[in-house]
Amino acid sequence: METVLIKNAMLVNEGEIVQKDLLIHGALIHKIADFIDQKLADNVIDASGLHLMPGWIDDQVHFREPGLTHKATIASESRAAVAGGITSFFEMPNTNPQTTSSEALAEKFEIASQNSIANYSFLFGGTNDNLKEIISIDKSKIPGFKLFLGSSTGNMLVDDPEVLREIFSNIDLPIAVHCEDEVTIKENLSRFIAEYGDDIPIGKHPEIRSEKACYLSSSRAIELAKETGARLHVFHLSTAIETELFENDIPLKEKKITAEVCVHHLWFSEEDYEEKGTLIKWNPAIKKKTDREALWKALNDDRIDVLATDHAPHTLEEKQQVYTKAPSGGPLVQHALPAMLTAVKRGKIEFEKLVQKACHNPAILFNIEKRGFLKEGYFADLVLVDLEKKNTVIKSDLLYQCQWSPFEGTTFEASVEKTFVNGNMVYDQGKIIENSLGKRLTFHKN
Ligand code: DOR
Repeated sequence: METVLIKNAMLVNEGEIVQKDLLIHGALIHKIADFIDQKLADNVIDASGLHLMPGWIDDQVHFREPGLTHKATIASESRAAVAGGITSFFEMPNTNPQTTSSEALAEKFEIASQNSIANYSFLFGGTNDNLKEIISIDKSKIPGFKLFLGSSTGNMLVDDPEVLREIFSNIDLPIAVHCEDEVTIKENLSRFIAEYGDDIPIGKHPEIRSEKACYLSSSRAIELAKETGARLHVFHLSTAIETELFENDIPLKEKKITAEVCVHHLWFSEEDYEEKGTLIKWNPAIKKKTDREALWKALNDDRIDVLATDHAPHTLEEKQQVYTKAPSGGPLVQHALPAMLTAVKRGKIEFEKLVQKACHNPAILFNIEKRGFLKEGYFADLVLVDLEKKNTVIKSDLLYQCQWSPFEGTTFEASVEKTFVNGNMVYDQGKIIENSLGKRLTFHKN
């Protein structure tokens, strides 16, 4: 087995930034110490001036396979992910077929095992009529479940209150929810269609997918979780008012109700609709600057536990349609870390806190085995970043199959230099290295 020594990097891990050497042996981190002799290694990387962090574990991506491969594939998007320092991902069930049966889940694991350069797992989808499958699925194989409590790409709305109560009452694993109240959205949409027809100005999106729609749905989900004792994880918060529903006075391990925020809700605000148009149409919608600031605050004070991307590519042709036809979602995995490192440089969040939210906390929350930390005996999922190297997003560098990014033209203030997955270097300064594939994530019991 090969040994690789990373020397002189600043390690960002568990609330500290300290200079150390790190020795990789095979797939694992073998040793971390102030000094490790280079004679011990087959290869030595001098990482002076760079920071070394655990790979980002992205708990929410849509890689579109099977069935929607004109938008993206697990092969293409996992490569974009490692170029962006994301070494593990949970992919969402709104594919075709939907991941709502054990057969569909097995098919996804099979596709990923042959194509994913990053480590992978899948959330199992709930619908109004797959309770039997939800109860019988092997819970040791998956991190959790995903329920769309508001409709989005893929028609997976779960709106039967009895079914929801049954799911919440019978499942111990985390239940991740997309919260937007369908009735509110429908009412708002018909009002705007009556005024504008299909060509509703994109700036109205946050009035249609409104603050009220988000709050009603997330507060109801939280209420049900409290009643049933379910382990609830609310995905992609987008409003200030929702952040007040979450607590920060207990450690993550003890929390029954947790929250996630996504990069786009921290980066963009409604002022960006004019320039970016439907390219930044997401569900939930990008909202006001005041919402964005409240999300940053809640992330920093630990009411929000996890940082993710909700990477959700569509083709440019699809996105450029009229408002009612343009699908929501956009590609993010290649640029999420440079964007968040830029936020670190601008003082929005400390680097240690970013690593906690993107790497440590997903591992803790979903009981992922041996990942998410720089620790001896853990998998060597690592990212070397340069906080001094600026990097402008240009089309020819995009690895997304859809070949567009909402960040095109943006200059980030930091760069991902090298990414390792299970000890293998898979990305090196602009190049994907095709020598290895990722592993299926495994989970320990609580
Ligand atoms: O904007 C979104 N796009 N939000 C979702 O919930 C789904 C996603 C997609 O799959 O396109």
